[in-house]
Amino acid sequence: MTWQPVNAQELSKDQAYDLAYSALQALLKDKRPDEVAFMATLSSLLKTLLKTAFWVGFYRKVDGERLVVGPYQGTPGCLEIKVGMGVCGKAAQTGEDVIVDDVHEFPGHIACDERSRSEVVLPVFVDGDVHAVLDLDSDEPGSFDETDVRRLREMLELYWPCNT
Ligand code: SME
Repeated sequence: MTWQPVNAQELSKDQAYDLAYSALQALLKDKRPDEVAFMATLSSLLKTLLKTAFWVGFYRKVDGERLVVGPYQGTPGCLEIKVGMGVCGKAAQTGEDVIVDDVHEFPGHIACDERSRSEVVLPVFVDGDVHAVLDLDSDEPGSFDETDVRRLREMLELYWPCNT
């Protein structure tokens, strides 16, 4: 697949997710599954197409207590986050999606980039346990909602089926 330039500023949220999903499907076609390749490609597509997100990437749960940054796109992310800390740590601890309209109102929010104003984090499950989290950050408040969660979940399911 050869990437065709797209102006993300002109895309609605649904158009951006439609393009990201179909590109991800095309890129994965006939490929041997590889987790790092999937994480990197998903991060690239979302960062390229979603005008709302300045940071997109994964934190991997490496033991019971720590999340370590994985493939991502954007400014430097914190290398490690304790499970239970910040938005990513909360999603990893509870196994629930977290939408934060205003990070300044979220106790314990970890600001890897001071532009961050809103955030969405989805846990990724393997064998019923949290394996990683997908994190998106925006420099505008209220950028993410249930539509993002649904569309992101459907992309995660291309690699981790039935990921709830
Ligand atoms: N804001 C996140 C930390 C990760 S960075 O945003 C990339 C949090 O509070 O968990």
